Amino acid sequence: MIIQKTSSSRLESFDQENYSFGDHFIDHMIICEYDNGKWGEAKLMPYGPLSFSPANMTFNYGQACFEGMKAYKDKDGQVFLFRPRKNFERINKSAKRLAMPEVPEEVFMKGLKVLMDVDRAWIPYGEGRSLYIRPLIFATEEGLKARVAHKYMFAIVASPAKSYYTAPVSVKISDYYSRSASGGVGFAKAAGNYAAAFYPTQMAIEEGYDQIIWTDDATHEYFEESGTMNVFVRINDTIYTPPTSEKILDGITRDSFIQLAKHKGLDIRVEPVAVKTVLEAQKNGTLKEIWGVGTAVVTSVFKAFGYKDQRFELPVLADEDSYALTLKKALVDIQTNQAEDPFGWRE
Ligand code: COI
Repeated sequence: MIIQKTSSSRLESFDQENYSFGDHFIDHMIICEYDNGKWGEAKLMPYGPLSFSPANMTFNYGQACFEGMKAYKDKDGQVFLFRPRKNFERINKSAKRLAMPEVPEEVFMKGLKVLMDVDRAWIPYGEGRSLYIRPLIFATEEGLKARVAHKYMFAIVASPAKSYYTAPVSVKISDYYSRSASGGVGFAKAAGNYAAAFYPTQMAIEEGYDQIIWTDDATHEYFEESGTMNVFVRINDTIYTPPTSEKILDGITRDSFIQLAKHKGLDIRVEPVAVKTVLEAQKNGTLKEIWGVGTAVVTSVFKAFGYKDQRFELPVLADEDSYALTLKKALVDIQTNQAEDPFGWRE
């Protein structure tokens, strides 16, 4: 790997107390270019803008996918990545679906390790703190023929993170828009999935909600995801989450929640979650919690949800009575090396 370090770190001028998610970037980044049917040598270089023509194929045809993952620092300054190989597998699933070249494991894993090593001082320590890492692959070829590009870049950038959403949020169950469709790219972390979600989300915000619970495109009768997260529902003491499919992202936080819930002996069922079931549970008082999980946010607790013209408040639970927060704490304790890791998730 080519190593080209900055001569002037920005860390001193970074206000480590006042920053928000995704707004500041560590001193370095990794890039690796793909051309003539193969990946070149990866390079660590100072973080900064790259220059592309407006006729770049990513801007025009959207061949771009990404990952979200985190590094944590424990009280002794040891650094851990959380399940990085799952992100490696998933970025290549996304790449494949978008007809982009898969990135070699060596480039992905070594890039992460070298970047974490060189910019170790940027990795925050403390409650809710982590380094959010964004690996991505995108087309770099200039040209307007609508076809698969021949040139790509794999890059890794990273940004110090605190909690993403702090206060409980309210969500609108979508009865019209959908984020994915059968045969589509919902399971991929395709940049375009996020672009397509912004407009419906703005509509929900105008109605007084923070984000959307996405439902299936065919009937809008079943939950799929929420905002940029996977979704969980608790009715009485049973937790439900929809099975992953070609329309639902195979979330790593989602999988970790399922495994942790089973490990704790909680009743968790991976099965379709019908809007009707949730509305009935709300009516008869058995609906206890709805929450979203994802890498950036870990857990976002919902305080209310809307369906058609009605808004329903969810019960306010003490932290220790909330399955969402109990599982979140168990997960964060593993991620930050404050608890045993029986699953081998820290790396
Ligand atoms: C993540 O949790 O990593 C996400 O994908 C959310 C991101 C779009 C901010």
